[in-house]
Amino acid sequence: MGQQYLRTLKWQLCCAQRDIAAINWDSMIPTLEWLPEGVNFLDQTRLPFEETYVLARDYNEVARVIKDMVVRGAMAIGVSAAMGVALGIDRSRATTIQELDKEVEHICQTLAATRPTAVNLFWGIAQIRNLYTGLAARNTPIPEIKKAVVALANRLYDEDIANLRRLGAFGAELLPQEGTVLTHCNAGALAACGYGSALGVIRAAVERGQKIDVFADETRPFNQGTRLTAWELVKDNIPTTLICDNMAGYFMAKGRIAAVIVGADRIAANGDTANKIGTYSLSILAKEHNVPFYVAAPFNTIDLATASGDLIPIEQRAAREVTHVGGVQVTPHGVQIENPAFDVTPAKNISAIITEHGVLRAPFTESIRGMAAAQDLNSELVNA
Ligand code: MRU
Repeated sequence: MGQQYLRTLKWQLCCAQRDIAAINWDSMIPTLEWLPEGVNFLDQTRLPFEETYVLARDYNEVARVIKDMVVRGAMAIGVSAAMGVALGIDRSRATTIQELDKEVEHICQTLAATRPTAVNLFWGIAQIRNLYTGLAARNTPIPEIKKAVVALANRLYDEDIANLRRLGAFGAELLPQEGTVLTHCNAGALAACGYGSALGVIRAAVERGQKIDVFADETRPFNQGTRLTAWELVKDNIPTTLICDNMAGYFMAKGRIAAVIVGADRIAANGDTANKIGTYSLSILAKEHNVPFYVAAPFNTIDLATASGDLIPIEQRAAREVTHVGGVQVTPHGVQIENPAFDVTPAKNISAIITEHGVLRAPFTESIRGMAAAQDLNSELVNA
């Protein structure tokens, strides 16, 4: 009763500040943008205090911003990688297809070596590479190839937002009319070209008039929850409470959490899901407390070539992310550090996987296979 009152109060406050139904989500600052000078990235390492940009003028600079997490989040990484390959081809001085072939090989390898876990990175590279290979095989003039790859990179950007809006609509139906949703890391507009996956579901629910408020985990060590999720939700006037990662169990035990919703960096063919470190622990807590645990991810996050979660490569990042907070060392010298950036949530802990094509339920091996077959059939019909 007390909680419900609090929630309603928070809502009245937010709605008084701004008409929620009238929010234009497209007015969000773009995470990344193709410009004539290169690809412009909102520098996520400087949020929430500074809204500054990094311009990548060539593919090596795109690789650097992905590695340094100026841009991060699976969907944003995928489109950034596609733009990186397109930029490399567009800026090439090669005069023959043979020369360009060699360069494209090197460009793709450079971008593929940035971050190993999000399968979207490899998807983005493959989209541009496949188009290039087809055009090159037909001896298409190089200026035409350049135009085509740049156009595709920009189309992938638009499709990412459109897909996430569809995904959001499917996901909103799973959320309650009123309640608190807990999320981990940042699976929002900042992790994509806009709108977001997990946060896209929350946005869609809010757009429909559901009274959702969000509990955001801090997400140590990189603090994507503190710096990014809190920033973008507060900007949109969605009631948001920041909690430390180790508080989730407390709030679940108190019955305060109606659902958990997270994004994904790679979903294996059996539904096992790699996401930001700490997601696995959250899934166990959710199971223990009978809280539904949802994964929201576009279909290109599903890796049919990886049979199960134990085969997903897990990125190990620098010790400094653990030893330092906001540039200040918080650990004694000499302590050993481990910093795996992701963990794998077994499919058995997942209530549903929400995609732009619909909602997948257990048994995931079958439902994923079915959705993949339907998509193949769809594209055959479209291309016929
Ligand atoms: O290391 P990051 O910040 O790139 O990790 C991001 C996440 O783990 C997100 O939850 C994930 O990419 C899903 S949202 C696209």
